[in-house]
Amino acid sequence: MISAHEAEVASRFDALHRRFKDALAPDDYRLDGVLEVLGPVAGMRILDLGCGKGRFARALRDRRAIVTGIDLSAAMLAEAGGIARVRGSARSLPFASGSFDAAIAVEMFEHLDPGTWPVAIAEARRVLSPRGTLAIVDKSLASLDARRPWLPAALVKAIDERRGLWMYPAGGPVRERWFWPRRLRKVLLKSFAEVRVVHLLSPAERRRALFRRVPAARLMALWVARGDGGIDV
Ligand SMILES: C[S@@+](CC[C@H](N)C(=O)[O-])C[C@H]1O[C@@H](n2cnc3c(N)ncnc32)[C@H](O)[C@@H]1O
Repeated sequence: MISAHEAEVASRFDALHRRFKDALAPDDYRLDGVLEVLGPVAGMRILDLGCGKGRFARALRDRRAIVTGIDLSAAMLAEAGGIARVRGSARSLPFASGSFDAAIAVEMFEHLDPGTWPVAIAEARRVLSPRGTLAIVDKSLASLDARRPWLPAALVKAIDERRGLWMYPAGGPVRERWFWPRRLRKVLLKSFAEVRVVHLLSPAERRRALFRRVPAARLMALWVARGDGGIDV
């Protein structure tokens, strides 16, 4: 069943779906990060959590992965042609245990109710094979703003949120959450045997020595969680 929080998320994405791009640049740095940690994906069964319009799912399918997408928003899913897809919540996945070799979640966790992070992570773990990998790409609360690196990116976001420039109305019941890398890692370690955090370097950040030299200052992080400790599912 969809919660009130998820209904609000779905309605915002349904209303604003035209704002979101339907394809990735071939050299998208987040895709490169995901591919690097997954290794060769041909023949791999991959679940895309919060697949949106299917940009990442199609890029993986084009590399011969067998991809399924799940998303809350009917309008986003309607544009996710070319992949198997279902409407539903990452909190309660309609798949049998051990159905996938890997799962990705690109900028989806930021839309979850923080109280449901452990449930969504445990669900991802359940549908993965024992040695499966979960790759989460999302924004780091420790990052600095790429254009004005003397400011925390989260402060710039908080100001913009108040000015109504983010997708959820200021003061409403839902807002986009960013993550302390170590905090999300700790939550992931409750379901996965091994978790590492990789700080991804965006093209804008690449231009500044600060971001090249200090990975923790970068906006996008990739949490790679593996169940290869042989945890029972
Ligand atoms: C910012 S979009 C990213 C879409 C896609 N991953 C991409 O990068 O192109 C976030 C997506 O996550 C979906 N989403 C948010 N919460 C979700 C949940 N609990 N279960 C499934 N999908 C969810 C939204 O509907 C939206 O399509």
